[in-house]
Amino acid sequence: MAPVENGVDLNTLVFSKLTPQSDISSFRCSAYRDLEDFLLNDALKYQEENVAVTYLVHSDGRLVGFFSLAMGCVASESVADLGEERYYPRRFPALLIARMATQDNFRGMGIGAEMLARVFATAFTLCSKVGCRVVKVDAKNNERTINFYERHGGFITVGSGDETIPMIVDMNKMPPNHLDVEKTLADFT
Ligand SMILES: CC(C)(COP(=O)(O)OP(=O)(O)OC[C@H]1O[C@@H](n2cnc3c(N)ncnc32)[C@H](O)[C@@H]1OP(=O)(O)O)[C@@H](O)C(=O)NCCC(=O)NCCS
Repeated sequence: MAPVENGVDLNTLVFSKLTPQSDISSFRCSAYRDLEDFLLNDALKYQEENVAVTYLVHSDGRLVGFFSLAMGCVASESVADLGEERYYPRRFPALLIARMATQDNFRGMGIGAEMLARVFATAFTLCSKVGCRVVKVDAKNNERTINFYERHGGFITVGSGDETIPMIVDMNKMPPNHLDVEKTLADFT
């Protein structure tokens, strides 16, 4: 039997792309109403306009999280240890975590880490098809969120801000064993 953590079985999380039929009405993020508002009111429009694609996470039929992905770029100075500069453009292509949130009462159970694993799986796919050097997030400026990205994704801070802090992961610095694990997760769409 799969291990169950605090009522959420991480092995049976279901990841799916948002559709017009998706029932998202139960989603609450009381710490950041803008994230809740985005999912309830804007995510589908963003998707229809090809601005960001949103993925939902369900546990036992309950909506427990979502993340939205878009393409972005980062200034190459943000990526440390560039190596031979002649290979580097002024900006690196990036996969942007445009939004991410775990539903109220489901935080701290490992769902966020599972979402990040799917983000990296998507980045690996992009790396092999169109070029994607970096995963980027403008993290909400609070200690727990920043710690989450550092500890569970290996993100580093590359700037400052009031409401959000820019953080990145350089895909070229991912450990090889990490690559193998993450690649197997890429078929969730
Ligand atoms: C940040 C967030 C997406 C992480 O998802 P999660 O499902 O709680 O993450 P996990 O359970 O996999 O990881 C838990 C880690 O996140 C940290 N965390 C961050 N915010 C937390 C919260 N509100 N409640 C519980 N844990 C939180 C914990 O400290 C924990 O770190 P640790 O394992 O080193 O102790 C989620 O907590 C959340 O939605 N927070 C509010 C919205 C937000 O900040 N979104 C990010 C926008 S950039």
